[in-house]
Amino acid sequence: MKQDMIVILDLGSTENTTIARQIRDLGVYSEIHPHDITAGELEKLENVKGIVLNGGENRVVDGSAVDIDPGLYECGYPMMAIDHPTAKCERTRDALPTEEDLKEFVFGVCQAEANWNMKNFIEDQVELIRKQVGGRKVLLALSGGVDSSVVAAMLIKAIGQQLVCVHVNHGLMRKNESESVVEVFKNQLHANLIYVDAVERFLGKLEGVADPEQKRKIIGGEFIRVFEEEARKLEGIDFLGQGTIYPDIIESGTKTAKMVKSHHNVGGLPEDLKFELVEPLKQLFKDEVRACGVELGLPESMVYRQPFPGPGLGVRCLGAITRDRLEAVRESDAILREEFERAGLNKKVWQYFTVVPDFKSVGVKNNARCFDYMVIIRAINTIDAMSATIERVDWDVLQRITDRILAEVGNVCRVCYDMSPKPPATIEFE
Ligand code: XMP
Repeated sequence: MKQDMIVILDLGSTENTTIARQIRDLGVYSEIHPHDITAGELEKLENVKGIVLNGGENRVVDGSAVDIDPGLYECGYPMMAIDHPTAKCERTRDALPTEEDLKEFVFGVCQAEANWNMKNFIEDQVELIRKQVGGRKVLLALSGGVDSSVVAAMLIKAIGQQLVCVHVNHGLMRKNESESVVEVFKNQLHANLIYVDAVERFLGKLEGVADPEQKRKIIGGEFIRVFEEEARKLEGIDFLGQGTIYPDIIESGTKTAKMVKSHHNVGGLPEDLKFELVEPLKQLFKDEVRACGVELGLPESMVYRQPFPGPGLGVRCLGAITRDRLEAVRESDAILREEFERAGLNKKVWQYFTVVPDFKSVGVKNNARCFDYMVIIRAINTIDAMSATIERVDWDVLQRITDRILAEVGNVCRVCYDMSPKPPATIEFE
């Protein structure tokens, strides 16, 4: 391993992630571990230079007072204790260490080197993957989202043709999305990629289904079945690649949180399809995943994509999905994205998309009455997707988008802008 590491032990603090980020921002790798890690477990970690004991108020985890394994004090690592003061001390819990404190501890006391960067990280992971996989094969569901794309690029670098990528086109992808997965991974990176055209199959299953939860269940369930069928056709696969990232694992940093989500992306594979997991991004925060993707040579458009729901355009073609409305969603979404890029809004706005409701409204086209669909534009900003505010898009930009949608998307006669914050509205409509 190339990187030095500072271990943060979670003694009930809510600030573990903040401190991990601060240390990583100093260029030193840091990992959060549960407070009850044993001395033996700690000694198995490589290149540990020091330990931060990060206590919450009175060092409480799940209601009980906690302390670390006394054996840890014998390991000889430099330690820094952060005991967020209690109310009694008349100070707030914001008494986090300053950057200077952390620098002094990390570089002065621990003598750690600032060698945490994506180049070193990738070299380490490539080595680890090769060690784990040997001459065997890894299967990966490659959706084209940021995490699965970066995992694919990393695995291609490490094991080349021993990686088998399966891309399932469920017909609910954005315009040219599946094509760009094939272009980047098959044509440019020469990946062993199986492209599954499951469009008819998904749309068939979804026919007449209007309930949003039912739609999600069908899309998720069918995805697993298609992936499973492909997996069964292949021989000699022992591993499953996964785009698990650090926030998936730490959540609160406690022991129980370690178990959160093991089969997140392709959950629910049948018992007899047993794979060992390969999760090369599990130590990275989202922005680090993006930086890793860029370092691995993926196009920025793939790495800096806005979030896109798993069920894709399926939850934006409201109610029972019909092909004509699905095309209207896809085409209007492509126009919106093109115009946001042209206006520089793609770098500023967190998420933006269009939806098409399942009713028509009256309009006039070519001097005749028409009865056509409506496109609703939504553009929001948020930090954690729990609450959101709308982007105040410039009228001229909105006008251009509207004109283009009305001119280029055949069965639409009306365009609206969604002004609702979350709450009470959610970001998506379904
Ligand atoms: P809501 O609509 O709940 O969305 O405010 C919050 C964020 O989650 C995304 N989203 C999903 N992502 N599968 C996903 O992977 C889903 O079923 C799903 N539903 C919503 C949504 O796009 C937003 O970023």
